[in-house]
Amino acid sequence: MGKIAYIDKWRIAETSFSEKYLAKFESIMTLGNGYLTLRNTHEEVYPTEHRNMFVAGIFNRFSPEETTELANFPDISKIEISIDGQRFSLLSGETTNYKREFNYQNGEAIRSFDWKQEEYAFHFTFRKFASMSNKHLIVHEIKIKNLGKDARITFETGIDGTYTNSGTQNFLENERRFFDNKYLYLTTKTTQSKVSVSLACYTHLDVPHVSIPQMGRRKIIEKKQVELKSDQSVCLTKQSLIKTQRDVKYSGKDYLQTELLTELSQIADQSYEILQKESAKAWQDIWDQGEIEIDSEDVKDNLLLNFARYHLHAMSPIHDDRLNIGAKGMTGEGYKGHTFWDTEIFILPYFTYTYPEFAKSLVRYRINGLAAAKANAKRNNYRGAQYPWESAWLSDGEATPKLGGVDIVTGKQSPILTGLIEHHVTGDVVYGGLQCIEATQDPKLKVDFFEVIMEAARFWASRSVYNKIKDRYEILDVIGPDEYTEHVDNNAYTNYLAKFTIDEALRAYYANDENSFKVQYQADINWLTEVSEKLYLPIPNSANVIPQDDTFLKKEMIDLSKYFESNSIGTIGLDYNMEQISNLQVCKQADVILLLQLFPEKFDYQTKLANWDYYYPKTLHDSSLSLTSHCNFALITNQIDLAYKMFKKTFDIDLGDRNMNSSDDGIHSASLGGIWQNVVRGFGGFTVQDFHVTITPKLPKQWRSLSYTVSVFNATIKVDITKTTIKTTLKKGTLSDIVINGKTLNFDKEALSVEV
Ligand code: BGC
Repeated sequence: MGKIAYIDKWRIAETSFSEKYLAKFESIMTLGNGYLTLRNTHEEVYPTEHRNMFVAGIFNRFSPEETTELANFPDISKIEISIDGQRFSLLSGETTNYKREFNYQNGEAIRSFDWKQEEYAFHFTFRKFASMSNKHLIVHEIKIKNLGKDARITFETGIDGTYTNSGTQNFLENERRFFDNKYLYLTTKTTQSKVSVSLACYTHLDVPHVSIPQMGRRKIIEKKQVELKSDQSVCLTKQSLIKTQRDVKYSGKDYLQTELLTELSQIADQSYEILQKESAKAWQDIWDQGEIEIDSEDVKDNLLLNFARYHLHAMSPIHDDRLNIGAKGMTGEGYKGHTFWDTEIFILPYFTYTYPEFAKSLVRYRINGLAAAKANAKRNNYRGAQYPWESAWLSDGEATPKLGGVDIVTGKQSPILTGLIEHHVTGDVVYGGLQCIEATQDPKLKVDFFEVIMEAARFWASRSVYNKIKDRYEILDVIGPDEYTEHVDNNAYTNYLAKFTIDEALRAYYANDENSFKVQYQADINWLTEVSEKLYLPIPNSANVIPQDDTFLKKEMIDLSKYFESNSIGTIGLDYNMEQISNLQVCKQADVILLLQLFPEKFDYQTKLANWDYYYPKTLHDSSLSLTSHCNFALITNQIDLAYKMFKKTFDIDLGDRNMNSSDDGIHSASLGGIWQNVVRGFGGFTVQDFHVTITPKLPKQWRSLSYTVSVFNATIKVDITKTTIKTTLKKGTLSDIVINGKTLNFDKEALSVEV
């Protein structure tokens, strides 16, 4: 049996305990609800674990040399168990029937096994969840049945503020209290951002026991001792509540103490079952709104989709428009909780077309980030607004670290240049935002986004340099999406997005008569028009290939088979440093291929195919963003079998059991958004073109059917696709027509069915 069992379309399980793979399971089975996340570490401690709990938006920058990061919270998840004074651990004794399961439908983690050592024998069951109905709540339950000799069981748990982000203590010394002889309380503040946070917990045993509260440095815990006779059972329940000064509902100091404790006392008597049911119901409401189902020969296809959907909701702080999604969600310390272009190009479409209200919150984050983006542009001597490559809290500005991994040639830390010259994010923000505005038709969002478009356009115009000899504007010295080529001129993806942004700004300016902001841009219009007209857009060469940048096509080609065959990503970095890789025709991820997807109407089929043939064999997919972009593009170029193969490969990024360390620092958010795009936009063939909904499915032969729900233009449509029919049902709102397989049909009834 493999290391992971794929039980059904909602559940996976770890089938045997291994210290080596703790980090992987902690990440992929992270508990979360968009407000907070808890990595699925075991209750008992292991040396190789990464025990993290994050609350969205609680960033801290420990020192000026370090970058701002999501602070690892004081821990509430550790529950040490001792048996007659000996710490229980799966590293000793004999464990049988081990199973650690995660249910992506209701967010619940369950672990159970039998364990024995000498005369001792027990059956253990652990359950936990982060509540989707009360986003401040995490609940743990442990049941132990004694199958051996009588024993004294001691549980030791509480709130432990000694936890750090890989050694960096982001919280000040805390204050601790024991209230009403039962509630543990700890309050503290982040060291630099000075955000107050409070945690309270209540631990309950269902049998008579002795309870001893203890305070240690930075922690407050309770020891609970029970004499467990042979055949007897004990059940522990722990409810933990977390609140912070950055909560939308924060109302002053009382909120962090009085209100927190009052709430805890109100739920203290509720059983695990009741609280879990409430949470499961909230999850189910989410699934009902975005109903989607793949009926495939391989249940793993649907599992992958549900895994992606679970994490997209667990990681997305859509309750607060000052927050956005991290590149690893909040499932680990990787990328420090920072937001990238991953949101707009890969993740946002899922929310735009399924949960439009959530999408609007993510777009508002960029509107709210305008002041910082303007300051960023100014600092870099540009005009307008330059969105940071990596962003965190709105006022943090550019959050990209300066140094990264080892340079294989010099042995030093490699510089990270993305924060300095990977600028396409300012175009991506506009692209994603406009797509959301088009789909939701929200007039207020449209007005509020106007300034983002105008300021982004001003940035691009000031970022472009006039080349007198060629009489054109150029964008020099950038990194495009393919981060294996640094310091390049006229990256096609970047230039097309810059032109798109400026054109959209001009369009919005002329269309938007009532906007009071409009007048301030009057003086820029001639300038923006001139740059738009003369901005250089790399066009296909005689072989129909669009040059990725000015020099890419002239660079050396090497045999890449060794890297394609490798099970790990980034192995080219073991042979070459970044400067050397930059001089080769090798791509980390989709670049031109992505450009062709964002602007499909601009390029004909032959051009699309020629670029696939050229770039695909040179792309190592060393970024998790790459496979889903390629899957979609393979479908655009009618390569359904290949697209399905890529979809299958995407499974390996986080869920697979081939590379058991790929998710140690967290799962890959953009890939998750990409998975939904593959299913609905790719195989499901859903697009919006010139204000028409079009459905042109391309189901792989392994799929018997696909159903999905999309919301667009204030209407909700359910699409059911089988091998022989395409049925569309209007669930909400109205829609005048729909284009199915190229044919425009009037939507005058509730449902339309077409034979294929
Ligand atoms: C990719 C970027 C991406 C970042 C965060 C990098 O490896 O090259 O495109 O934004 O990861 O996911």
